[in-house]
Amino acid sequence: MEVAVQRIPSVLNFIVLVLWCNVNALVCGFEMKTIYCKISDSCECDFKPNIQGLEWDLYKNLYGQHLAQDIVSEGISNFLSKESPDRPLVLSFHGASGTGKSLVSSMLAKYLYGTAMGSPYIHQFVPTLHFPLPERLYQYRLNLKHWIEGNLTTCARSIFIFDEMERMPSGLIDVLEPYLGPLHVVYQTNYRKAIYVFISSTGQEVINSVAMEMRKAGRDREEIQLQDLVEPLNEAVFNANNTGFYKSRIISQKLISSYVPFLPLCQHHVKRCAQRELCQRGECHCVDVAEEVSRAICPTSNEQHRFSSTGCKQVPAKVNVYL
Ligand SMILES: Nc1ncnc2c1ncn2[C@@H]1O[C@H](COP(=O)(O)OP(=O)(O)O)[C@@H](O)[C@H]1O
Ligand SMILES: [Mg+2]
Repeated sequence: MEVAVQRIPSVLNFIVLVLWCNVNALVCGFEMKTIYCKISDSCECDFKPNIQGLEWDLYKNLYGQHLAQDIVSEGISNFLSKESPDRPLVLSFHGASGTGKSLVSSMLAKYLYGTAMGSPYIHQFVPTLHFPLPERLYQYRLNLKHWIEGNLTTCARSIFIFDEMERMPSGLIDVLEPYLGPLHVVYQTNYRKAIYVFISSTGQEVINSVAMEMRKAGRDREEIQLQDLVEPLNEAVFNANNTGFYKSRIISQKLISSYVPFLPLCQHHVKRCAQRELCQRGECHCVDVAEEVSRAICPTSNEQHRFSSTGCKQVPAKVNVYL
């Protein structure tokens, strides 16, 4: 009751503003949104993309991933520049463990909704938690379809993150097919404004071998281009048995807007992770600890081990040991 009374002046303001805006449409767009957001709980009001902030964070805090930095920044800014996109944005992150895939997905959440993963419009799925039993595929398909449609109806700007796609039962993700293309209609919503992020280690062999070839040829890893990886990645992912992508129509129908390869990390990247970890603990001065941690995680003596097999994932545990 109290809330309703408080809202009356806002509603009156809104009506006056609508009348005024019929005369002066250009000037009042911003005011309209402010007042509309006071009286409504639309997710458009929570959606506050900060593209520059995202670009800066990717540039500064994501080490050794020039492809991910460029593809994600460009993909998001192109997508959000369209008032009415013709299809949703579908990003598929691939790469070894600990290379920054989850880190980038949390940056997306932070710079699009300003609330890290806490927003009600950001939905994260983890197969081991949500789809643990392959024999229940039929039920999971119904649930997932129902759930996506419900969330899109509530919020066209929903963000859906599917982590650990390599553990998802094959055949499940194809229920998303209608929502990822340009043709479908979801009642009461523009479903094409949604963003989907798939995360997996599937295809890591392809990425790692291209990075290794580059290294053996004595060339800079920044020379690796997306074109070097897209085709082999597409094939490896489509044929990856016992994963969520196996023979998926999402791949065969080309519904993924961009593949985002995460390269394996080298010793100096791991060292930067260790330095950051130490600074976060107020031990910025322990430079030798960062050096020791990076050597322990990523010994350079052996050709096979020139990349870290666990990326930066073990850094906090190793810092505990060496500090
Ligand atoms: N490329 C990177 N740059 C900076 N930090 C990284 C990078 N890769 C991993 N990390 C750090 O290592 C930890 C694990 O990374 P995460 O993003 O969860 O890896 P995954 O690729 O397995 O999802 C996080 O604390 C993250 O901040
Ligand atoms: Mg992860």
